[in-house]
Amino acid sequence: MSNLRDLKDSPGNLVVADTLGRPLQDLRISLLDRCNFRCPYCMPEAEYTEDYQFLSKSARLSHDEIFRLAGIAVGLGVTKLRITGGEPLLDKKVADLVGRLATLAGVEDLALTTNGVLLAPVAQALADAGLQRVTISLDSLDEDIFRTMSGNRGDISKVLEGIAAAEQAGLSPIKINVVVQRGINDHTVLDVLEHFRGTGHIVRLIEFMDVGNRNGWSMEQVVPSKEVLKQIHARWPVRPVGRNYPGEVASRYQYLDGQGELGFISSVTEPFCGSCSRARISADGTLYTCLFASTGTNLREPLRNGADDQELATILSSVWKLRDDRYSETRRPVPDEKPLINKVEMYRMGG
Ligand code: GTP
Ligand code: 5AD
Ligand code: SF4
Ligand code: SF4
Repeated sequence: MSNLRDLKDSPGNLVVADTLGRPLQDLRISLLDRCNFRCPYCMPEAEYTEDYQFLSKSARLSHDEIFRLAGIAVGLGVTKLRITGGEPLLDKKVADLVGRLATLAGVEDLALTTNGVLLAPVAQALADAGLQRVTISLDSLDEDIFRTMSGNRGDISKVLEGIAAAEQAGLSPIKINVVVQRGINDHTVLDVLEHFRGTGHIVRLIEFMDVGNRNGWSMEQVVPSKEVLKQIHARWPVRPVGRNYPGEVASRYQYLDGQGELGFISSVTEPFCGSCSRARISADGTLYTCLFASTGTNLREPLRNGADDQELATILSSVWKLRDDRYSETRRPVPDEKPLINKVEMYRMGG
């Protein structure tokens, strides 16, 4: 696998870089495409009805297959693993998988993203298995708004119980993701921040993104992070702090009164493709090199056709070396403009 783009960052540690020099560092693994929520910005309930055909069990990668691919990715330089979905906690054996992933030497960060409803009963088991931290989506503390934004499925008290259980289990730092949509929940953002100030949990405000093709995205519904920052700063003065690691998507801020940290994920108004080191493997074993991709690379077929680890590593590294994605930097945010590409839906690709 020698190539100009295979760099060594330390002895024995291979780094595969793409055409823009970005290393492969972060792998996000979607366990399944199902979810117990129907957030309108992700899986609008009118489209994802009870009889919607999600992936069958046999179409999804098994834990053995996921473990194998993750091990190969780690061999290529990946140090961060994140388990996502759909809703990953719908997989009853997720703690077993975590336990296996935690054994991979070279994994420095093992995290999971969840909507939190099913978290409380399994938080301790996940921590015991080796999960380091969780990120929980919680768009508003207003019951009605939360219900609307979860597609009439969510139960705030269960999410808060999940957060408490995660804290108890030491799955920290706990991050709370809030997708901000103008006219929907933007007026409740300060309440969420107030609730979590001083708890050590890190609220991250995410600009509503044009992922997939079905969420009715328009620029008018995006609240630029700068606008939200101004409101926050007027209430609780904050100052920017540097990134925790290269390629971090959130811009971090600290409250000047010592009440902790918050973050902004501003993919629309301040894209961060330049340092994007993330690959995604969907539940059906497709490798994607961008959240906004319309196509990916089928890894399930070679996996099930007997490819050995070296062959799989070659597929992964070859795809990464050809990568030139920078969607957020080149998108044209013109309202009503027809999507230029048929993007894969986020619940399917993994968030
Ligand atoms: P940390 O590892 O804690 O820094 O979290 P993370 O930001 O990598 O993970 P998380 O799953 O919490 O991601 C937060 C949100 O950022 C995602 O849900 C997306 O909305 C957005 N996001 C993550 N990665 C990307 C990316 O590569 N491109 C874009 N455009 N958005 C991303
Ligand atoms: N825009 C921004 N964030 C989104 N998420 C899902 N869909 C979107 C979107 N269209 C967020 C979820 C979750 C994370 C995995 O991605 O709220 O926190
Ligand atoms: Fe489910 Fe997360 Fe999508 Fe909401 S954003 S429907 S919780 S996968
Ligand atoms: Fe990475 Fe694509 Fe997101 Fe840019 S738009 S940060 S290339 S995933």
